[in-house]
Amino acid sequence: MVSISKNKSVFSWEYSPAPESKDHIKINDRYELFINGKFIKPQSKKHFDTINPATGEKISEIALAGEKDVEAAVKAAREAYTKTWKKMPAKERAKYIFRIARVIQERARELAVVESIDGGKPIRESRDFDIPQAANHFFYYAGWADKLDFAFPNKKPTSIGVCAQIIPWNFPLLMAAWKIAPALACGNTVVLKPAETTPLTALKLAEIIRDCDLPPSVVNIITGDGSTGEFLVNHPGVDKVAFTGSTEVGKRIQHSLAGSSKKLSLELGGKAAHIILDDAPIDQAVEGIINGIFFNQGHVCCAGSRLYLQENIAYTVIEKLKHRMQHLIVGDPLDKNTDIGAINSKAQLDKINHYLNVGVEEGNEIFQPDCNIPAKGLFCKPTLFLNVAQSHKLMQEEIFGPVLAIQTFRTIDEVIEKANNTPYGLSAGVWTNTGSRIFGLSSKLKAGVVWANTYNKFDPTSPFGGFKESGFGREGGLHGLMPYLQFD
Ligand code: NAI
Ligand code: MG
Repeated sequence: MVSISKNKSVFSWEYSPAPESKDHIKINDRYELFINGKFIKPQSKKHFDTINPATGEKISEIALAGEKDVEAAVKAAREAYTKTWKKMPAKERAKYIFRIARVIQERARELAVVESIDGGKPIRESRDFDIPQAANHFFYYAGWADKLDFAFPNKKPTSIGVCAQIIPWNFPLLMAAWKIAPALACGNTVVLKPAETTPLTALKLAEIIRDCDLPPSVVNIITGDGSTGEFLVNHPGVDKVAFTGSTEVGKRIQHSLAGSSKKLSLELGGKAAHIILDDAPIDQAVEGIINGIFFNQGHVCCAGSRLYLQENIAYTVIEKLKHRMQHLIVGDPLDKNTDIGAINSKAQLDKINHYLNVGVEEGNEIFQPDCNIPAKGLFCKPTLFLNVAQSHKLMQEEIFGPVLAIQTFRTIDEVIEKANNTPYGLSAGVWTNTGSRIFGLSSKLKAGVVWANTYNKFDPTSPFGGFKESGFGREGGLHGLMPYLQFD
């Protein structure tokens, strides 16, 4: 049923609830550590709760790996590397990786629902983006496993050894796939640690890996918090560290690995500039802006969180943007109509609210739509800040929430200067009808990815990664193999 509400400042569609069913989902009351192909109790004897951020309810108890558990996981990964995985013909390794991809596809519906319950992201995103992309990454890297000599001719690529992989909470299963798939294809073994607020899909992936008969210990998945991550990164049995998360922790890891022979790749924060030129297709650009910052509650390292509008179209774009925002639905992540789900954790909501206060204190004009947000759970209205100065915290610091800071510009040189003026350099977006302006801007913007006339588009064949404090190393594509190989 669709009805038109006249209570709001604009006409707005109101939809009846369309909740995704969760009857088919089985979540255990307690999950242990996945080491040596089995779920085992932690030697630390500690567990922690993972909650549903949309309701505040506890979902399950999760093992907290301590130092001895990390030791057991790294030891297991080492044995599997030297005795099994390294020696296995590449085309045999590929078959296991293909199998994992197939089972992710088969269990896609279940994984999507679990992802939305544990992390708060709308089911539309987990169903249409996260889970299919995760399967695609396993498919893609399975294809590379026996073709490494062709990918890097005359370079004799070989595996590295045991990889410690630490992932965040914004794309839990997808980040696990980004890390595990290329590592396995290149002949390495893995100890993966998911984030403490979103461990469930990584544990479901552990079940899948077990059911695919992957040789035991080739992939170990240990849950825990920052202390677990620290033990893992610093363990002497680890040959390679791959980390995605905050710039602060990334820097700490870089410090602690200095002087060691461990290889490192970091994918850290961002403050992407989204640039709209005056010859851009405005309606499409508005949709791109919405997708760029409100997608996944702005919990996206490449979120288009700074909007630069050419002065002569700024008024039109802002009016259209405000109108479009009135129609965004904030609410139950499991409802198929929801555009903006729950904020991942109380700590993250506190951080976003802090920046909303900072934005007002800095003297910026704030706009939020009239939409209701659920009384229970962790939610935040999509927010614009207008007339923000380049020096304001809102333009410089990563918020990681549905908050967009807007500035205008006159010339292309001016916008390049402003866009490059942050410590980050992960991504950017450009909207214009002129091809040469796209090439001009994309070669001058210091960002690992520049999208043109679209935003947040991903594909396993395309490399992704940053400049400056956004990190180094690439994930995805042929480049994504390099951090997991050494060359003679
Ligand atoms: P975080 O960097 O603390 O957590 C990311 C992962 O690192 C988690 O698995 C965590 O357990 C682990 N970790 C924490 N401390 C560690 C340590 N000392 N050694 C090894 N591993 C460690 O990020 P957090 O606190 O969840 O989010 C804070 C901010 O970071 C966010 O507000 C956002 O601005 C940014 N962030 C960026 C992400 C990205 O994709 N680039 C993802 C998540 C957060
Ligand atoms: Mg959770």
